[in-house]
Amino acid sequence: MYLTMIAAALANSSVRTLSQQEELPLLRDHLLRLDRNSRRDRFHGFMDDSFIERYAEKCADDGTVIIAFFENGVVRGAAELHPPDQSPDSLPEIAFSVEASVRRRGVGSILFRKLITEARAKGYKSLRITTGAQNEAMRALASKFGAQLVFRHGESTGTIDLTKQDDTELATTWVESSLNAARTVAKFNRAYWQMLLRMYGWGRAA
Ligand SMILES: CC(C)(COP(=O)(O)OP(=O)(O)OC[C@H]1O[C@@H](n2cnc3c(N)ncnc32)[C@H](O)[C@@H]1OP(=O)(O)O)[C@@H](O)C(=O)NCCC(=O)NCCS
Repeated sequence: MYLTMIAAALANSSVRTLSQQEELPLLRDHLLRLDRNSRRDRFHGFMDDSFIERYAEKCADDGTVIIAFFENGVVRGAAELHPPDQSPDSLPEIAFSVEASVRRRGVGSILFRKLITEARAKGYKSLRITTGAQNEAMRALASKFGAQLVFRHGESTGTIDLTKQDDTELATTWVESSLNAARTVAKFNRAYWQMLLRMYGWGRAA
């Protein structure tokens, strides 16, 4: 019964990578729809609209890959794959946002799998994720994909080793199967954090 309800809820849904032209409007509008608490969790305290607008512009411009979850044609969830900077110890940084109306239906997990597939295709060997220490949802999601999160400076930071990921974990899940069936029937990453700080006028110029 529970699975049927989720499958029905995902019936008009799809997941795909946004084109560069789509990134600015679709990512921006999705992020602007996040409520106050979600913005705090997603942006580590940066919450105003103008910040989000500049953030989406930056993503559309710097090679960030956005994988989007659509429901009835509207982006309700996004996974971000930020490219590493030029320094030798820099890692691609990842981030997730799912609007409250579609949470706890496996959307974050679907986006995570697609993101890992995309990251592997780009040849990345590991990924970095950073989230607030109190963010249980993101910690649960990251742990599910093998991130060993370490508490530091009020945040949890983890690395995901793509060379050790179990392929069975990345196989199509029951949620994705349900989605398809229902559709048929019906270190802190330096580059990423400097970008955030610069956008807020706190960092040194690049
Ligand atoms: C974190 C977030 C992306 C999770 O999205 P979601 O679509 O609800 O995730 P899923 O439904 O795929 O759940 C993934 C796992 O986390 C667990 N989980 C989800 N929300 C949880 C919560 N509030 N508390 C504890 N565990 C939670 C689920 O039980 C699931 O584990 P399971 O598959 O073993 O049952 C979403 O809550 C969100 O966008 N939060 C606000 C923005 C944010 O915090 N972003 C992170 C900064 S990078």
